[in-house]
Amino acid sequence: VSARVAGPVLGLDIGGTKLAAGVVSADGKVVSWERAPSVAAEGPERVIARLVDLGRLSVRRAGLRMEDIGGVGVACGGPLDPETGVIINALNNPGWVNVPLKSMLEAALGRPAYVENDANAAALGEHRYGAGRGTDNLVYITVSTGIGGGLILDGELFRGENGNAGEIGHLQVAYQGRACHCGGQGCVEAYASGTNIAQRAREALVSEEPSVLLELAGTPDRITAEAVADAARRGDPVAARIWDETIEVLAAGVASTVNAFNPRLVVIGGGVTGAGDLLFEPLRRRAIARAMPPLAAVVRIVPAELGERTGVIGAAAVALTRVSAPA
Ligand code: BGC
Repeated sequence: VSARVAGPVLGLDIGGTKLAAGVVSADGKVVSWERAPSVAAEGPERVIARLVDLGRLSVRRAGLRMEDIGGVGVACGGPLDPETGVIINALNNPGWVNVPLKSMLEAALGRPAYVENDANAAALGEHRYGAGRGTDNLVYITVSTGIGGGLILDGELFRGENGNAGEIGHLQVAYQGRACHCGGQGCVEAYASGTNIAQRAREALVSEEPSVLLELAGTPDRITAEAVADAARRGDPVAARIWDETIEVLAAGVASTVNAFNPRLVVIGGGVTGAGDLLFEPLRRRAIARAMPPLAAVVRIVPAELGERTGVIGAAAVALTRVSAPA
């Protein structure tokens, strides 16, 4: 086996709603970046075919050939097996059960592929190139279609026994709470993911409380977390209550994580953080109030810095780490 040259690499990001691909240089610079809707309902084969096309396009747009790519990093929601590259059951991608993602991508692209949990990859990306530079202990949380987490402990990504550590979205903060699609109960994700913020708003409207939410969205099925945030900002009582409960649940999750890992930073990214201060201001206050004082004293809760490119940069960071690791 010949020695591999690190970088440039191709980063691929499989979100519950969006796909993204980009070529990233060995020092973390994004050379090209493309995105497309994932249409998750179409199932894994179609989504992966579209991802492969997107990957090829971004390599072309970077002015490169696939042979120039040192490796392909892939970020996907879990649970998954990063060693075999098999997606065991991606909760937010319907039908993704035992999908051999690594071998499918290697067959299509002809380059070595490295699969990692999306939030673990993003934690690595933020640690290397984003808000977490120079920080040894940080927790990354994504609040998006689902809620994921990644742990950098003593400067290293902590992957756990089989690569699934850091499932912060499935901390069960309400022990008799809402059922979660992971099989648990009262998970942070069951309340505060983008999907469940919208779902809880729909449920509130069924009880026929008056709300501007329906005017904003048109029909109940078009209600999004973003619409809930907008309506809350306008003082709509239903949306304000849903948003308030969302913050409280997230605060319980963040405080529990702070208590468990004593991080210096909690970096929060994902689509729902587009709400900005409406999210961060009360979340900081309430998470700090709930955490144990000596641990609360040293932690800062900050937005992710890499924005919508976090997934691709994180996936690239995975490839760069594994390509340069001794075989
Ligand atoms: C999954 C995580 C993933 C997160 C965000 C959760 O439902 O369990 O593995 O990181 O969604 O995609």
